[in-house]
Amino acid sequence: MDAPKEIFLKDYKLPDYYFDTVDLSFFLGEEKTTVSAKISVVPRVDGVASPLVLDGVDLKLISVKINGNELKEGEFQVGPRHLILTSPPSGNFILETVTEILPHKNTSLEGLYKSSGNFCTQCEAEGFRKITFYQDRPDIMAKDTCRIEANKLLYPVLLSNGNLIEQGDLEGGNHFAIWEDPFKKPCYLFALVAGQLESRDDTFTTCSGRKVALKIWTPPQDLPKAEHAMYSLKAAMKWDEDVFGREYDLDIFNIVSVPDFLGAMENKSLNIFNSALVLASPETTTDADYAAILGVTGHEYFHNWTGNRVTCRDWFQLSLKEGLTVFRDQEFSSDMGSRTVKRIGDVSRLRTRQFPQDAGPMAHSVRPHSYIKMDNFYTATVYEKGAEVVRMYKTLLGSQGFRKGTDLYFERHDGQAVTCEDFFAAMRDANHADFANFLLWYSQAGTPIVKVTSSYNAEARTFSLKFSQTVPPTPGQPVKEPMFIPVAAGLLDSSGKDMPLSSIYHDGKLESVTCCGQPVYTTVLRVTKGEEEFTFSDVPEKPIPSLLRGYSAPIRLQSDLTDDDLFFLLAHDSDGFNRWEAGQILARKLMLSQVVNFQKSSPLVLDPQFVHGIKCILLDSSLDKEFIAKAITLPGESEIMDLMEVADPDAVHAVRKFIRKQLASQLKHEFLNLVKENRSSEKYVFDHTNMARRALKNTALGYLASLEDEEMTELVLHEYKTATNMTDQFSALAAIAQKAGKARDDALADFYNQWQHDYLVVNKWFALQSSSDIPGNVENLYKLLGHQAFDLKNPDKVFSLIGGFRASHVNFHAKDGSGYKFLGEVVLQLDKLNPQVASGMVTAFSRWKRYDETRQNLAKAQLEMIVSVNGLSENVYEIASKSLA
Ligand code: ARG
Ligand code: ZN
Repeated sequence: MDAPKEIFLKDYKLPDYYFDTVDLSFFLGEEKTTVSAKISVVPRVDGVASPLVLDGVDLKLISVKINGNELKEGEFQVGPRHLILTSPPSGNFILETVTEILPHKNTSLEGLYKSSGNFCTQCEAEGFRKITFYQDRPDIMAKDTCRIEANKLLYPVLLSNGNLIEQGDLEGGNHFAIWEDPFKKPCYLFALVAGQLESRDDTFTTCSGRKVALKIWTPPQDLPKAEHAMYSLKAAMKWDEDVFGREYDLDIFNIVSVPDFLGAMENKSLNIFNSALVLASPETTTDADYAAILGVTGHEYFHNWTGNRVTCRDWFQLSLKEGLTVFRDQEFSSDMGSRTVKRIGDVSRLRTRQFPQDAGPMAHSVRPHSYIKMDNFYTATVYEKGAEVVRMYKTLLGSQGFRKGTDLYFERHDGQAVTCEDFFAAMRDANHADFANFLLWYSQAGTPIVKVTSSYNAEARTFSLKFSQTVPPTPGQPVKEPMFIPVAAGLLDSSGKDMPLSSIYHDGKLESVTCCGQPVYTTVLRVTKGEEEFTFSDVPEKPIPSLLRGYSAPIRLQSDLTDDDLFFLLAHDSDGFNRWEAGQILARKLMLSQVVNFQKSSPLVLDPQFVHGIKCILLDSSLDKEFIAKAITLPGESEIMDLMEVADPDAVHAVRKFIRKQLASQLKHEFLNLVKENRSSEKYVFDHTNMARRALKNTALGYLASLEDEEMTELVLHEYKTATNMTDQFSALAAIAQKAGKARDDALADFYNQWQHDYLVVNKWFALQSSSDIPGNVENLYKLLGHQAFDLKNPDKVFSLIGGFRASHVNFHAKDGSGYKFLGEVVLQLDKLNPQVASGMVTAFSRWKRYDETRQNLAKAQLEMIVSVNGLSENVYEIASKSLA
């Protein structure tokens, strides 16, 4: 392959030409599709006629005209990636092209392609260039119309962005529709859908009284499953008005459910979603899926303002829209359920997905400095760490200040393509805020490590916190500067109550922290230096500090809290997040200490104080049940491996399993009661109270099933058979599947038998098996690859089976290299079909240097094998080569 080209943020240049309006016309055929584009081109600087370079990939150029005249040889050049108009006229002109594309041969799931017989598009980030020749960059914003013509029987529904302005029948069984989008937009927000779909219809009346038609389109048989998505959409529309003052701006909003689709996409007024993120019914869909649908529907809808009305100047600014929109969807889900539980889930996700990335060869800042393939930067760093950065503005400014900031952002930048600095400036200017070196969060990669020590001075009645921070080196950034870290802190007295905070001595000044004369119980410390001290005054007794409340910054905090302090916080902290966090810190310490025992072949032991702490949580009826379920769940294996010098998957797995089993046997009575008391009623309800009951019952059931105990196996089987919804049925199946044997085999076979007609449920069945820790599961994986329900072309099936496998650390990192070999083989097959999906899978190798020498050599061999392959995609090349560097 040609040496892949790396693109740098520092090289950004304004375009030489803008596009004002675009009229697209599609003739959708069975063999090929013809695309005509008529673009009005406006030079940025009048009178300068530099060559106009249009992006275009996998396109066959049929004709190109300027101002109605066909261009002759020499007036243009076509290559595999570009069409260059060598000497366009000076001044405005009309460019017309006709191209042919082959959607039915397109397996990349970007550009225009076919999924289950229907046509659909995905253009973000750079897929529009697979549809027609264009300046495929987000700072080119144009108003467009789209005419679609196709056979009426095969494609009765024809959709694009904006309003339907004309439709009709044509001779020969064809029909057409013309759509017009009144808002100018970058081409990555263009969408087209054509096929056999039906809609669930509803309406929403906006705060100013505009009546919006809402339509969720699915294949006819799926329509009954669109109710929850509609509920989610309406809730999101209302929430954005109430919380951000954002009203919807068109008379129609469509969502289309597509089985072969990567995630979901916020195209203007025509969102396209993977079916798994739309379709729901109690019998087939778990609580986690219901919650994901709510969150993603909100996310894509919220993009209408954060992404569409105000978009990104270039792709390096992706977090401007994604970080902000993830933050918005997190807040939406919080308000619809439990804030603490949502926060716990989001932080766990950050720790398991983003922290490893920030510490590995692909580490990049929230705003990356360079990329080879933009698709590789739709990452946990850009999305989730980006959301944490937005959250920090809110932590620093408070809700009202934050809202002033977003109001100013929309007011200043509506209709523009802007940068992360523009968001920062709006936050700052709306509040006359001092944000010190906050912008470093956008440019410096790596998870800051903050150490804190405390001391109490009884005579002076002061309590001091001494912070020191370091940011680990990351590729291309060997030396880091100290960052601005907001640390939300409170102090607990010996009865466990929050102490009122009055003033803090810092940087040579005594500052009052009261608010309008009222005492506060949490204050935000602004840690900005390498080393820094804060001293609370008027502290009548030695307090236990509760630090980083609500997880106020995306850092690793290392404190000098003792185990007793942590148990105290677990029992008393008024900040729910930190209560959970105290339990997690204790669990991490415990697990790491037992890993050492395991490696020395010493017996494993479980600290009785830990069992007691868990028991108190289990029995505390004042607590939210979903909170209890989270608090009794041990940190995941990858989180523990992350904390080790050399990651040891076998040791961590053995230890986690040991502790789970010990807890199950010592708290068997309590767990049994929880199962009995929290069984579901017949009718499934999606609300926090009911989800919390199910979560607690099923977590308890998982513990009980880990016991080698006939009676418990019977209990779990009973729960499986009597389940009335998928949450309970699937949890029971997962509980049974922990142990190899006949009960497991029978249950898995029974489940497949029951649900083989429903591909979304079958995907869960694949994932449950592939992520299983049962010894030697790779064998089974090869079998499942050949299963009649499996298809390498469908991303969900790949994520279930191949993605799921990566979650079993013992099997993926098997010391005989069988797991690595399996993944290496599959990546190469996938790369030919879909480079984006393949590169997503190859990231599993990227942290190979974290393991012992044997594993390192085995994983490295696979990476070397992959990069040596001829015709490798840029996507996979970028990840594999950076991993080896
Ligand atoms: N903008 C979409 C979202 O809301 C994601 C687009 C994904 N594109 C890609 N090439 N991976 O999150
Ligand atoms: Zn998004």
